[in-house]
Amino acid sequence: MTDRTITLRVNGSEGTVTVPPHRTLLEALRQMGHIDVKRGCEKGDCGACAVLVDGMAIDSCLTLAWTCEGREITTVAGLGTAADPHPLQDAFMNGGGVQCGYCTPGMIIAAKSLLDREPDPDEDAIRLALSGNLCRCTGYTKIFDAVATAAATLRARDAT
Ligand code: FES
Ligand code: FES
Repeated sequence: MTDRTITLRVNGSEGTVTVPPHRTLLEALRQMGHIDVKRGCEKGDCGACAVLVDGMAIDSCLTLAWTCEGREITTVAGLGTAADPHPLQDAFMNGGGVQCGYCTPGMIIAAKSLLDREPDPDEDAIRLALSGNLCRCTGYTKIFDAVATAAATLRARDAT
């Protein structure tokens, strides 16, 4: 199959990458240097590779790269910086929601997708939204707490 150069818009900037038709979005993003998108199971089980595509969390390992041309892709690095973190990044860091950190990008992307559609989720809604994301370190409780903390921070911010 012939390689093709495609243009992907990632975290607000366009970049090109040359890929065969079967190249996944996960592989293409990492080829472009977006190594904050983590490679885990590569079969849709772990959620480590999650990114937002037009605001919806998807497993990039199950998505062909060329299908994302013309769409807005957001990785965890697009949400905030070390100097100016997104409330989710802040809550995960300061609430013990990060241990080895391998699951964290996917967890935060799944949580961002949840909070964009449901600003005040209860614990069941948080658990359901993150049910496609596996963590081998934290026992999940601090992750769920971090999402609730970030939700409260965002609601307080929106109220001012
Ligand atoms: S690497 Fe995509 S779901 Fe595990
Ligand atoms: S913090 Fe290690 S897998 Fe979640």
